[in-house]
Parts: sequence; C-alpha cells; structure tokens
Amino acid sequence: MAQFKSSLEIKPNNFLPFASSYLKWHFNHYVLGKSFPVIAQFYTTHTCNFMCSHCNFWRTPRFEYIPLEKFKSIISELSEMGCCFVNFTGGEPMILPDIFERIKFVKSKIPFMHMVSNGSIITEEKAKKLNETRIDSISISVNGLKKTYDDIAQVPEAWDKAVNALRILKANTNGIALSMNSVIKSDIETINELYKLLDMSKEIGVDHKLQAIMQHPEFSDYRSKSKQLLFKPNFPLDEIKKFIKYAKKQKHVINSHYYLDSVVKYFEGKNIDGLFGEDCKTPYYFAEFQPNGSFNGCLTGTDWKETFDATKRPLREILESKEYKAHQKNLEKCRACTKSMQICIVEPRAFFPFRNFLKYTVLPIAGELYS
Ligand SMILES: C[S@@+](CC[C@H](N)C(=O)[O-])C[C@H]1O[C@@H](n2cnc3c(N)ncnc32)[C@H](O)[C@@H]1O
Ligand code: SF4
Ligand code: SF4
Repeated sequence: MAQFKSSLEIKPNNFLPFASSYLKWHFNHYVLGKSFPVIAQFYTTHTCNFMCSHCNFWRTPRFEYIPLEKFKSIISELSEMGCCFVNFTGGEPMILPDIFERIKFVKSKIPFMHMVSNGSIITEEKAKKLNETRIDSISISVNGLKKTYDDIAQVPEAWDKAVNALRILKANTNGIALSMNSVIKSDIETINELYKLLDMSKEIGVDHKLQAIMQHPEFSDYRSKSKQLLFKPNFPLDEIKKFIKYAKKQKHVINSHYYLDSVVKYFEGKNIDGLFGEDCKTPYYFAEFQPNGSFNGCLTGTDWKETFDATKRPLREILESKEYKAHQKNLEKCRACTKSMQICIVEPRAFFPFRNFLKYTVLPIAGELYS
C-alpha cells in the first residue's frame, strides 16, 4: 500500500506551521517576487571525532562555529521571515560546547528542528538534556555492521557508540522522532548489510533514512575517488533494485518513494529526467550556513563557493541584494543533484514549488495506489 513519506518528517503535530510557511513562501515568491528560506541547514562545525572514509569534514578540521549571539540573531531573522525547519549537521554537532543552548534557542523560534549526529558522545545525561530542549527529531548515522562501520569511521567501537546512542535516546527521551541514517553504496557488501541495519532499527523501534553515497567537496574524496565511490564497475544493479523494493515496503523507512526510486537510476548515471532535469527552485526556499557564518542557497550547487557573509550584514539585506538574486537565478540551471542526491535537498525539491509537490509526491503515490 502506497504511503505518504518524506524525510522532511511532516506529521500532524508540525503540519500547520509547515503549511503556513509553505503558503507564505508561495505568495511571497510568485506574487511579491521575494523569497525567504523555509528550510535552513547549519554545518555547525567542520570538526569531527570520526574519520569516515567517505567524508571530508575531518580532513580539514577547523574548530570554528558561528558565535552564539550572532547565531541567535540569524535564527531570529529566519524566524521573522517565516522559516519553519532548521537542520543541524556538521562535522559533529554534539561537540559544540553550547549545543544545548543553541538547540533550545532554535526551538524557541522555529517550529521544527532536526539534528544528525554520529552519536558517539551521547550519554544518558546528554539524552535527557536533549529531551529538555524539545528538539523534534534526531538521526544517528550507522553506516554498516560493526566491523564495516568501525573500519569506515576509523575509530574503535564507532558502531557500538552509534547504536548505543539510539538505544539511550529511545530510553531517555519522549516526543523526539528518532531515526537511523545509513548510506547506500553501490557494492554488494553494503547492500547485504543494509537489510540487517533495517532489521536493527526496527528492533530498536526507530525510523530509518537512506542516503545514496554522494560526491561533492565535503563528502567523499571527490577529486580522486569519486568514480569508484559512486559508479563502481560491475555494480550489482539487480541487488540494488531488490533492496530498494524491499526498503519501500518497510513502514519505518521514511524516505519518499520518489527518492528511493531515483537511487537506482542514480547509480546507473541516468537520473537526468523528472526532478533532476528541471530548473531548480532550491536557492529560493533553502539556505545553508557554514561554520564561519557564510551561506548561500545551495552549497552543493556552488561547489561550496559563492557564499555571502551572514555575520557582517543582516540576512534580509543579503537576500534582497542584487548579488543574491543573481546567485539564485544562476542556480536555476544547476543540475548537480544528478551527481549528489543529498536527501536534505532532494526531498524538499519534491515539495517545492506546489507544482513539484503534485508531480513528484502526489502523482507517484496515486500511481502506486492504482497499480
Ligand atoms: C556529514 S554527516 C554530519 C553529521 C554527523 N557527523 C554524522 O555523521 O551523522 C551527515 C550525514 O552525511 C552522511 N555522509 C557523509 N559522507 C557522505 C557521502 N559521501 N555520501 C552520502 N552521505 C554521506 C553521514 O553518513 C551522515 O548521515
Ligand atoms: S560522516 Fe559524520 S561522523 Fe563521519 S567523518 Fe563525516 S562528519 Fe564525522
Ligand atoms: S540542482 Fe541540486 S545541487 Fe543544484 S542548486 Fe538545485 S538542489 Fe542544489
């Protein structure tokens, strides 16, 4: 039976704030010719205590983060404009010394907040503190079974720490939506382990999000190894198809079916039609902030360049500037999602604008219902 799913995690308790921000954005964009970030993603720090082979953050550690007071003023501005979703990622967000204060502040201003963490420093005490912040959703990355993930992260007991974090959070929080995050790579070992990881998240009682391995400057050694990472020779196409079919049937896998269906084509290098072939509206409703406070409408689309400094000028002033508008316009022709299927940018594209919601969310569900 087809279901409405999205890693945006729109549920009855956050539907109204999301709907109101969504309508406001459409009115602003199409009637007033203005736009604001409905979704804001913060790369909280560039530092990490893991050294995952497919990730680049730890290779260039810079323990910098937006100063707390500046961070609060950015969040306040986002809130005034109508932003309804803030995501914390990194590096490892939990290593920020004032992480709880930041989350609490976001939650005092923004309806929905999510954080993705490697879970390594989540203790019972920290889980209780996270519970007090009223954060809505936390994902913990688990990229393989024990031996695989310990090898990938290059840290002893990385796997135990991540899986324990999920169990600790489950036991010590209430009302936080929890999920396990796992990367899909195009090799048979990963695919076989993913079945077991889906069983594990189900047994722990948390959701599961799947993310296709991607290449861009911060994820994967894209200069030398990207081709091996993404499109391995003789990759097991049938096994990936079988796994995707299985994953779609699992209630606790919360990716949209559109995203999951695109994964197979992605590994074939063929996801160039549909959403992936269309002009992109992301920079009009999305903003991504780096640890030094620079931001733009989609870091991936600009190869993490062409950024604007949110620590120097008010956000609204930047968004209304000619330069920012030109940046948004240029990115309309970007097609980098065909090579970097990041869930936090691809899934919202199946919602924005409303036309895409009909085409890539409602129609596929209707199609599955009638087939
Ligand atoms: C960069 S990490 C930051 C948060 C935290 N350190 C963690 O690992 O959960 C955010 C997510 O990106 C995923 N990731 C890292 N490198 C990736 C790559 N090359 N392709 C796809 N996902 C990747 C991680 O597995 C994680 O779920
Ligand atoms: S994926 Fe996350 S845990 Fe692994 S090195 Fe990158 S930032 Fe750290
Ligand atoms: S096509 Fe993808 S990568 Fe490029 S700007 Fe749009 S969302 Fe970003």
